[in-house]
Amino acid sequence: MSGPLFPLWQIDPDEYRAVCTYLRLTPQPRLYDHLSRYLADAPRLFPDPSGFSRYLAKARLTRFRIGRLDPMTKLFLPGHPLRHVLNGVIALHECDPLGYRELAVGSRFGAGVGALGAVLRFGVNLAFSLPWLGWQWAGFAANVPFNTEADLGGKRALITGVGRGLGRDLMLRCLESGAEVIGIVRNRASREKLQGELPAHARVTLLVADLSTPGALAAALIEAQIPPNSVAIAILSAAIKHDGKSVLSSAELRETFQVNFFAAAELADWLCGPHEIPPSPKADAPASPSPSTARAALASSSGPASQRGLSSTTRVVLISSMGRWHGMHFSAGYNASKAALSIWGESLDMELRQRSDRRFSVTVVEPGIFPSGMSRQTPLTRMLFASRDKIAGRILAGALAGRRAIRPPRWFALLTWGICLIGRDYRYRLLARAKPHAER
Ligand SMILES: NC(=O)c1ccc[n+]([C@@H]2O[C@H](COP(=O)([O-])OP(=O)(O)OC[C@H]3O[C@@H](n4cnc5c(N)ncnc54)[C@H](OP(=O)(O)O)[C@@H]3O)[C@@H](O)[C@H]2O)c1
Repeated sequence: MSGPLFPLWQIDPDEYRAVCTYLRLTPQPRLYDHLSRYLADAPRLFPDPSGFSRYLAKARLTRFRIGRLDPMTKLFLPGHPLRHVLNGVIALHECDPLGYRELAVGSRFGAGVGALGAVLRFGVNLAFSLPWLGWQWAGFAANVPFNTEADLGGKRALITGVGRGLGRDLMLRCLESGAEVIGIVRNRASREKLQGELPAHARVTLLVADLSTPGALAAALIEAQIPPNSVAIAILSAAIKHDGKSVLSSAELRETFQVNFFAAAELADWLCGPHEIPPSPKADAPASPSPSTARAALASSSGPASQRGLSSTTRVVLISSMGRWHGMHFSAGYNASKAALSIWGESLDMELRQRSDRRFSVTVVEPGIFPSGMSRQTPLTRMLFASRDKIAGRILAGALAGRRAIRPPRWFALLTWGICLIGRDYRYRLLARAKPHAER
């Protein structure tokens, strides 16, 4: 049994068992896997639930909640994800000999009495469920001012580092909300692995670019003929940290700056750079155009923007780090690369704001620490970890709302600034304890 990629639509094995109990069916791992695959396609097939329906879909399914949600969604919210779950479970069990027998069991007193019993049960359930729904509605209404859901339906998102960690979570959130994703992975092996994990019809195009090679990112985007102005949100999440390497290890330092900083400049140049009119083709023109000519040709292809699936605004999102506020030994200049990224991102925003079209906004994200391949798991870091999925949600909602800086969670930002204020000597002692690596 594999876990859900899209928690809004898919259910985990415990939830599946609860659904089976509710429907008086015997859970079967084989059928759960079929169900997971079917529901993994739901973000592509069905409209994204919004408002109250989405609020109800976010909580875990328990036997009690299914009992309340079943009549309520049947009557008031026909497109709710639970309807697809119940329909999927019933359809799959109907095609299985055991499930078929369980579903075919009728009333001991005949069909008429059975139907009457079902109507009565429905009525009693409704009487219980209506007050529950009112209570849920009150919770939803109280939550509305703090709601930070991003509306990504029909938009195109470009994300680097989608193979794992935060980049992968951002990709899944975008897909779950109905966006199309252009995902960048480091190599073919990562692409094949990820393709095997995603549903076959997921709206993802995976491009290979090793960001440690200058120009590789822009080249991959141009080769794939992605029009820069079709991208509604571009997120640079990929990064590298050489833990245990001195800031004097020049090869690692250069690689760190290339991946964490210069790749951002390349991405922004491809996305927001001047799209000059390409020269008219001549008989002796070279067969393959230069990157800037190719980009310009894609950006200025004819027809109104809305008809070509182009985006009227583009959000540029740079994932930096709270580590940009202080130094850190033995990480090959990771913190320095993030300081450069944050300041450069602010400068980019200043330049883009002066353009007359106001198409672009730049969001610099400085998260606290969260579990990933980049963060070490120690008792201290585990205490400080934030939820990666929640951070992904806040990034998307904040960027689409046009926020310039996001620092989730806030308490970690305050903690970091506190450490910055205590002075370099104290900071050194504290960080040397937290990260006691010597150079390898
Ligand atoms: N984890 C934290 O506590 C933390 C805190 C603050 C900020 N951040 C930032 O959050 C972002 C995501 O980090 P994460 O924690 O999710 O790290 P992660 O799990 O290590 O993921 C890093 C991603 O970047 C990709 N990548 C690295 N080098 C690449 C290259 N040369 N070419 C193409 N792709 C490359 C990796 O691809 P492969 O799978 O092929 O290696 C991977 O997909 C980063 O910008 C990081 O600096 C993280």
